[in-house]
Amino acid sequence: MRTIRFGIIGCGLMGREFASAAARWMHLQAMPARPEIVAVCDTNADLMDWFTTHLPSVCQTTTDYRDLLANDAVDAVYCAVPHVLHGAIYPEILAAGKHLLGEKPFGMDRAQNDAIMAAIAARPDLLVRCSSEMPFYPGAQKVVDFARAGHVGEILEVECAFLHSSDINPDKPINWKRMIDVNGAYGCMGDLGMHVCHVPLRLGWLPRSVQAGLVKRVTTRPDGTGAHVPCETWDNATITGTVGEGAAEFPLVLKTWRIAPGEANTWSLRVLGMSGSAEFTTKSPRQWRFMTYEPGGRQTWQVEDLGYQPLFPAITGGIFEFGFTDAIQQMWAAFVDELAGGDARGFPCATPLEAAQHHAILTAALAAGTEHRNIEVEYPA
Ligand SMILES: NC(=O)c1ccc[n+]([C@@H]2O[C@H](COP(=O)([O-])OP(=O)(O)OC[C@H]3O[C@@H](n4cnc5c(N)ncnc54)[C@H](O)[C@@H]3O)[C@@H](O)[C@H]2O)c1
Repeated sequence: MRTIRFGIIGCGLMGREFASAAARWMHLQAMPARPEIVAVCDTNADLMDWFTTHLPSVCQTTTDYRDLLANDAVDAVYCAVPHVLHGAIYPEILAAGKHLLGEKPFGMDRAQNDAIMAAIAARPDLLVRCSSEMPFYPGAQKVVDFARAGHVGEILEVECAFLHSSDINPDKPINWKRMIDVNGAYGCMGDLGMHVCHVPLRLGWLPRSVQAGLVKRVTTRPDGTGAHVPCETWDNATITGTVGEGAAEFPLVLKTWRIAPGEANTWSLRVLGMSGSAEFTTKSPRQWRFMTYEPGGRQTWQVEDLGYQPLFPAITGGIFEFGFTDAIQQMWAAFVDELAGGDARGFPCATPLEAAQHHAILTAALAAGTEHRNIEVEYPA
């Protein structure tokens, strides 16, 4: 099995998730290649101890990402740093000749994303993908397959949502994801937007125009020193797009909520059509629901327990359950499979074009929500 040597820039929440997924690569069966983490970088030097403790393969630790990029032993980079840094660091990773799995949103705003897209265009020899793991749940894959097989017929509505609730607590301390200058003006849309756009974009459901309901409730937060500081990012966004033309037109609803009472990382996808409907939610991670309909026939939803039926085969028995860390590993399997020349079993990670299209939607939604009007989406050429 081929080894692909990775460097990680950003050893926080998501950097550790990749390290864990790579460390249990034996979980996957028949992979053409495996990732080996050989270098890690974070400006907070303390965070790298965890990596060196658990991963004997790490040969380089550095607080300067340029040192990591100068390391010839690094073939590919996973970059998981605050949004404001994407626009500067991603192009440098590519200029150094490293393949890249970059965290969403692939630039803090559209201008940063344009710079990243220009750097990608200059290096067609490199594989670049954007992180988005939730569609790798088996139930989500079932909904995708259902739609791709044409079972939906004329579409009535598509909804994809990503719901969090911890921000309902006004005493939750502020972090960079609530700061406009680090997270970006998109607020919750920049944080969660790629997750809800990934499948609709993959299935070709690009909204022509959007409206957006933006909600701001918690306006200050404790900063950890006893003081309260402004919290200016949008808490919730409900984007309603119009997809298709004329009689085939349908609404696409995209919800990115940081204050959805009671919800903890709930990602859901629902497709409603005249011939068939299907839905999946991470609340019921082993199930999906679907219905097929013939004119005059019965309207009966069916619920199927899927168990563990991942895109990339794994050692876990089919009766067991699939979870978040499995979705992360399946996303990594898709990236590594492509690096090894495969087709990611027909479902590659989110592409740079999809990331750019999601920026087009979010840019229009931000204007639509703040100006209270319908805005045309200007997609990249
Ligand atoms: N795919 C997902 O489900 C998911 C979930 C959470 C976050 N994310 C994304 O991951 C990225 C990071 O988010 P996180 O939650 O891991 O944040 P985090 O704050 O936990 O980690 C970011 C790390 O980057 C480090 N860092 C900052 N500047 C740096 C620099 N110049 N060089 C090297 N390291 C630097 C910080 O010290 C920190 O440890 C963001 O793009 C975010 O949107 C994705």
